[in-house]
Amino acid sequence: MNEKVIIFDTSLRDGEQALQASLSVKEKLQIALALERMKVDVMEVGFPISSPGDFNSVREISKNIKNTIICSLARCVEKDIDAAADAMSVLDNFRIHVFLGTSNLHMQSKLRKNFGEIVNMAIHSIKYAKRYTNDIEFSCEDAGRTSLDNLCKIVECAISAGANTINIPDTVGYTLPNQFSNIIKVLYDKVPNIDQAVLSVHCHDDLGMAVGNSISAILSGARQIEGTMNGIGERAGNAALEEVIMAIKSRQDILKVHTNIEFKEIYRTSKIISQICNMPIPANKAIIGSNAFSHSSGIHQDGILKNRKNYEIIAPQEIGLKEVQLNLTSRSGRAAVRHRMQQMGYQDSEYHIDELYVSFLKLADKKGQVFDYDLEALAFINNQQETPEYFRLEYFNVKSSTSGSATASVTLVCGKEIVTKSATTSNGPVDAVYRALQKISSYKILLQKFQLFAKGQGKDALGQVDIIVDYRDRKFHGIGLATDIIESSAQAMVNVLNSIWRANQVILTLNKSNEL
Ligand code: KIV
Ligand code: ZN
Repeated sequence: MNEKVIIFDTSLRDGEQALQASLSVKEKLQIALALERMKVDVMEVGFPISSPGDFNSVREISKNIKNTIICSLARCVEKDIDAAADAMSVLDNFRIHVFLGTSNLHMQSKLRKNFGEIVNMAIHSIKYAKRYTNDIEFSCEDAGRTSLDNLCKIVECAISAGANTINIPDTVGYTLPNQFSNIIKVLYDKVPNIDQAVLSVHCHDDLGMAVGNSISAILSGARQIEGTMNGIGERAGNAALEEVIMAIKSRQDILKVHTNIEFKEIYRTSKIISQICNMPIPANKAIIGSNAFSHSSGIHQDGILKNRKNYEIIAPQEIGLKEVQLNLTSRSGRAAVRHRMQQMGYQDSEYHIDELYVSFLKLADKKGQVFDYDLEALAFINNQQETPEYFRLEYFNVKSSTSGSATASVTLVCGKEIVTKSATTSNGPVDAVYRALQKISSYKILLQKFQLFAKGQGKDALGQVDIIVDYRDRKFHGIGLATDIIESSAQAMVNVLNSIWRANQVILTLNKSNEL
């Protein structure tokens, strides 16, 4: 068997740090479970010193993930390393990832240290982290712009100090594939103890080279690839793991390495991450875009009918893409819904059948037939609902026309009360609904982003609305799903109002315990 490439996913660290609104613990856990099912080897799940929320989610993920190595990031600072170890302490084995800038630019203008000091900091931190675990990764931040002599020197010292994985990040996505593969070759040629560590790469996509650079590094001997699903991450993002993984699978003839990935989970994992992170996938995105397997021109369609291989290098089923099926109606029972979910690869523990069935029936009454993608969207939305909920949308009525203003009257259940308010605006029905909701909640909120997607096909497709709202300098993300887009808009805002209400409850509880 040829050599294995370790797949290191950093969607929950490098990916998450670039999102507009940070994810809740529950959302991060959903992503971690999907990555575990996809069998990534290592998942970096946070930077515990950065915030109590990050610390908490690393702890929760550590409690729940059994089959993937969990890793946390730390600067070369003792308190960072302590926090990382503490957050993962429920685990017998975990990885601490320490990093330090090694390029002249980072050393001089960011860290204000000379190279000797940087080497000493790296050695000290690796030895310090080694008290907690044997699995230490060291990253030379901005390695792509670091002098090769310095890079060889610090890598040798890091390995001697006990690092078992050495990561070479192209932090700003600046290098070209031949240059990046040369960096890896030089490290193999010049670092005497290089055989005692796994050489890893971590490429950013500022020049669109992240996947190309990662593949070129494999050709030079790198055996761990870091990246994120869908390529989410700082600025232009990280290497898209689904692309790296499928390139390794499809080009065995040249690359001669393999991964441990469960390929059939790629599509579902990618969709979960796109939904939860509110990062839509462009239609023409390689592997997972909605056009990646569709053939438009007559010549291509004819070629595909004669032999799919004429225009397809990957069969869609390989990544878990299934044919859309329609067979569920309002006459379908709970067992039929559950059976369809099982056929789509969902385990019972991944959704609540009772809640899903209630939303399924409501939708079936409206649409007649419920498709696979509808069912998946409903299961996803149900999972997003966090409890307790204070606000519930009871009723709304809107009037709008091209010539005048829009008016909305909205009724919410607020705890034990039922409240109705109206609003009028010249900005259309969604704005009118949002103004009415704001009057009811009396929260001073500012809508920052509003996105509408059709989930599925046809005129009766479900419309999903994603919004980002600013409230007291914090960002809140809300999602709503309905066949009526005004209703999904209202649901998304009610979702946000509930998150704000829950956040306020936490503050009230903390204040009370401080008073005692
Ligand atoms: O891009 C980068 O250099 C990083 C390091 C922390 C590995 O994300
Ligand atoms: Zn990065």
